[in-house]
Amino acid sequence: MSDARLRLFCALQLSGETIDELVAWQAANLQVGRIVPAGNLHVTLVFLGPRPAEEMPALVSELRAASAGTGPVELRPLRYRETRSVGMIVLKDVTGAATALAEDLGACLERLGVYRREARPWLPHVTVLRFRERAGLAPEVENIRSIHVVRSALYRSQLGPDGATYDALETAALGGVDDGS
Ligand code: 2AM
Repeated sequence: MSDARLRLFCALQLSGETIDELVAWQAANLQVGRIVPAGNLHVTLVFLGPRPAEEMPALVSELRAASAGTGPVELRPLRYRETRSVGMIVLKDVTGAATALAEDLGACLERLGVYRREARPWLPHVTVLRFRERAGLAPEVENIRSIHVVRSALYRSQLGPDGATYDALETAALGGVDDGS
C-alpha cells in the first residue's frame, strides 16, 4: 500500500467557449491581483483536500454515478464578489441541477467516509482573481453569457511556486451524455 496523498476536488468543467469568454472578461475587467489562468477556471462542487491515492477509483465511481443522475446545468453570471483572498463570479443555478449534484455528491462521499459536508450552503461560483490585499473591484458581469455545463471532473491540485495547477484526472458526463465539446 502506498501512502501517497493527492490534493483532490470535484468540479464542473467549463467548455472551451466559456473559458474563452471568461478569459476575455478577465482581461477587460481585472486590473490588479493575479488573474486565475484559463486552465484553472472551474466551478468547485466538493473540495476533498489531501486523500490517499487508493481512494481514487471509489471517488470516480461516486462522481460518475452522481453526474449521470443530473439534468442539464445552466449557470447564469449574477455578480462579482470578493473575499479576503479571491475575486469570483457568483452564478445562479438556473435549473437547480448543479446544487442537487453538489449536495448528492457531498452526501455520497460523506457516506464513503472521505468527506465532511460544510455547514454553509453550496455557492456556485468561478474564482477569477487572487490577491494578497483586497482588490476592491466591482466589475459588471451581466454581459457574460449563461454557462452550459456538460461534464464534471475529479481534479488534482498541485501547489507550486507560481500558484496551484489543477489537472482533471477523470471526467464524468452530466446526464450520462457527453457531446465531446
Ligand atoms: P474555489 O472553488 O473557491 O476557487 C482547489 O483548491 C479548488 O477547491 C479551488 O478552486 C478552491 O476554491 C476550492 N476549495 C474549496 N474549499 C477549499 C479549501 N478549504 N482549501 C482550498 N481550496 C478549496
